[in-house]
Amino acid sequence: MTKYEKVGKSAGHPASWTVDVLGLDTAPVPVTGCTSPEYFQKEVEHIFKKVWFCVGREEEIPNPGDYFIWDFKAIKASIIIVRGKDRKVRAFHNVCSHRCNKVTWSDRGNLQRLYCQFHGWTYGLDGQLLNVPDEKEFFNFNKADHALTPVSADVWKGFIFINADPNPKETLPQYLGHFYEGLSQFPFEEMTHCYAWRLNLNCNYKIIKDAFSEIYHVPFIHVLSVAKAFVNQERRMPHVLKMDIDNHSLRLSMYGNPKHVPPPGTGIAYKHGTSVVKRNEGDDDKLPPFMNPTRTDSWAGDLMQVFPSFHFTVFQNSYIYLNYIPVAEDKCEWELRLYLRPPRNASERFSQEYAAIELRDSILEDSRTVEYTQSVLSSGAKTHFHFSDQEALARAHHLMTQAMAGPYPEPGK
Ligand code: FES
Ligand SMILES: [Fe+2]
Repeated sequence: MTKYEKVGKSAGHPASWTVDVLGLDTAPVPVTGCTSPEYFQKEVEHIFKKVWFCVGREEEIPNPGDYFIWDFKAIKASIIIVRGKDRKVRAFHNVCSHRCNKVTWSDRGNLQRLYCQFHGWTYGLDGQLLNVPDEKEFFNFNKADHALTPVSADVWKGFIFINADPNPKETLPQYLGHFYEGLSQFPFEEMTHCYAWRLNLNCNYKIIKDAFSEIYHVPFIHVLSVAKAFVNQERRMPHVLKMDIDNHSLRLSMYGNPKHVPPPGTGIAYKHGTSVVKRNEGDDDKLPPFMNPTRTDSWAGDLMQVFPSFHFTVFQNSYIYLNYIPVAEDKCEWELRLYLRPPRNASERFSQEYAAIELRDSILEDSRTVEYTQSVLSSGAKTHFHFSDQEALARAHHLMTQAMAGPYPEPGK
């Protein structure tokens, strides 16, 4: 039996996502990449300080002077993201040029000047040092030499990205590969109604990322929630419709059960507006050709990932925003947001509240496994992860990590 028959793909489809489409090897992956403190430090130096991270959305800072802080604990940095008077979004290290106090202590707000509370040094929204009390007491001092330290920043479709490397090897458009053009028509900017959660998790960020890089788990961990929206009697496993990778962007097009009939309460919620999974006839015509690439009625949504930590799942009328923020080899922060169009009436509001709670509950199911996994990974009981062809994106993330930070340590050494 060929691999193609085994996974039940139709004629003309590739035999294996892992080998034939993505060009990856099939070897088991050592668990040490998720347990070793030394390896985590390699990731800090070779990945976290070098690549683009999504830190938020432009809607969070609509006005000049609006700012928020991105605490990037893995690289021991506090970064201020601020909209300038010229409306440009900039990023700076939140470190005073005098004696390195944190300039801004609040997580977010609006300021016309950035003011250090220690000795009163004041900076413009463009980072320039504007005022130094008792300036004449300093030696050989020129204010122009003491601006805030800039952090590379760019915005794509409202997503704000930063790069701790002052001279990134790739521009953000290059880094985003096929997403950059492919999603240029998707109306992210219309979906400004946001539900957000944040969790501190006791696991390596790759453990939670792996859980969102495949849909193999759906019939099992989500058996009490969304499983039936993804499988049915004829198709008991939610095999992916398509996977592709371009530079640092990875995509998995998800199968959805077109015959799914929700329970009565859920059905009422779906009927009254833009929920996560609801699709209207003819709406596919409005999707950018990049989305639902197989143009099938059995499409649930496209799961998109930007290496190493950003994930967004794009549906017809909404999108989910996930960030797996590395903290330590066994700790991460996890941001989950649901973005929808602002509700136009009470029915749509009800529908959206329902969608948000449905999402929250299913995501809590996902997060159940990850701390259990981390808690036993270092026991030595198992030395490797095994990824099926359906889990090829999870494998790809591990291989990308090793391509940049070196091979995972040999287990047991
Ligand atoms: S440390 Fe900021 S003004 Fe002194
Ligand atoms: Fe899940």
